[in-house]
Amino acid sequence: MTSPPTKPAPTPLDRLRLGEALELASHAIGLSDPNPRVGCVIGSSDGRVLGRGYTQRAGEGHAEVMAMRDAQSQGQSIRGATAWVTLEPCAHHGRTPPCSLALLEAGIARCVIAQIDPNPLVSGGGVAQMRQGGMQVDVLDTEDPLVSTARELNPGFFSRFERGRPWVRAKIACSADGKVALADGRSKWITGEAARADGHHWRRRASAIMTGIGTVLADNPRLDVRAVTTAVQPLRVVLDSQRRTPVDAAILTPPGAALIVASPTSAGPPLPGTEIWTDISLRDGALDLTALLRALAHRRSVNELHLEAGPTLTGAMAAADLVDEWLIYMAPMMLGEGKPAAHLPRLACLEDARRYTWIDSTTIGSDLRLRMRRTGLSTTFTRPPHGASESTASA
Ligand SMILES: NC(=O)c1ccc[n+]([C@@H]2O[C@H](COP(=O)([O-])OP(=O)(O)OC[C@H]3O[C@@H](n4cnc5c(N)ncnc54)[C@H](OP(=O)(O)O)[C@@H]3O)[C@@H](O)[C@H]2O)c1
Repeated sequence: MTSPPTKPAPTPLDRLRLGEALELASHAIGLSDPNPRVGCVIGSSDGRVLGRGYTQRAGEGHAEVMAMRDAQSQGQSIRGATAWVTLEPCAHHGRTPPCSLALLEAGIARCVIAQIDPNPLVSGGGVAQMRQGGMQVDVLDTEDPLVSTARELNPGFFSRFERGRPWVRAKIACSADGKVALADGRSKWITGEAARADGHHWRRRASAIMTGIGTVLADNPRLDVRAVTTAVQPLRVVLDSQRRTPVDAAILTPPGAALIVASPTSAGPPLPGTEIWTDISLRDGALDLTALLRALAHRRSVNELHLEAGPTLTGAMAAADLVDEWLIYMAPMMLGEGKPAAHLPRLACLEDARRYTWIDSTTIGSDLRLRMRRTGLSTTFTRPPHGASESTASA
């Protein structure tokens, strides 16, 4: 159900308020997952802000409700006011009642929306419901720069509904000659404390952090979020076909849950409190990474997936074209012989190389942080033809 979009040029006040709503939405990182990060500003047409809000934990208040509560707590009347929201208000009864009805009941006269919700349970329904209730609803043109800013806040949420898989960000910490470990496997620490802390900001964005059994056995990492505060811990996923994860592995300990993905024929000791999947199909003898990503999106609502693995799994993900973005911390050191960032097949010629575009570079402490994406890839995805995002993962 998609209402005919109205695309009036947003006023300068619309732009200002949507910009504020986007800033508010960023506070929902590490809080609202798997719900999208949404911000809302309620204000009067003469320029007064009456209430502000952003999405809380799943099952708690959405941005619109938080903004209405904020106005109420300050004794502000919002009847006849405008609501600026970064994502279409929900129209369905999920864990909370529909925001579209709440805005109507509160007497909001106009709603300005940055983007339509990709969730088929909502998509266009919130707009239609509010218009039917007599509200003026304006939706930004999809080409508006504010829309791409809004999508950048939720690339995983859009990827999950529009591609049926998470947005994958692969993190590597390497030397200037591209090595992620010494030849004997030791890698602690190539980058400095500041870069490692920055890495936790990116872990915090993710619904899940994925690694391979090679890294678990070599480093015994916790792979949780520690260096920055977070309301929720990402799910930690270990690809471990043969069930070699030790019972006392640090990755299995709280805070946060762990998931072992093993091959259908694997056998291993029970791991109390740890979920184990043995139903992901194999492709060429290895766990099918595409099927796994679909299963993570479908079963566990994984929006952003943070890959922090050794060269074997990182290479397999890249070779399967499943890495959307690279987060590279580069230390000013040379390691010489050592492990490369990714084991990739030998190329016949340079033209066959995978091409990326740098999207960001900065210095963190004594290290460089570089981000790159597949050239031409944006966070606006082509919807799969048969509503693949709703279908059961072919796991
Ligand atoms: N500096 C960094 O950024 C960084 C980050 C992480 C790790 N490391 C270093 O990397 C080294 C470990 O590298 P690694 O390559 O052995 O570990 P890895 O890539 O983390 O794990 C590889 C293992 O994952 C399992 N796996 C399951 N399904 C897979 C699939 N479809 N594709 C690929 N692998 C799959 C395989 O074992 P099974 O067949 O038994 O399942 C495979 O051997 C260590 O020295 C560690 O310190 C460095």
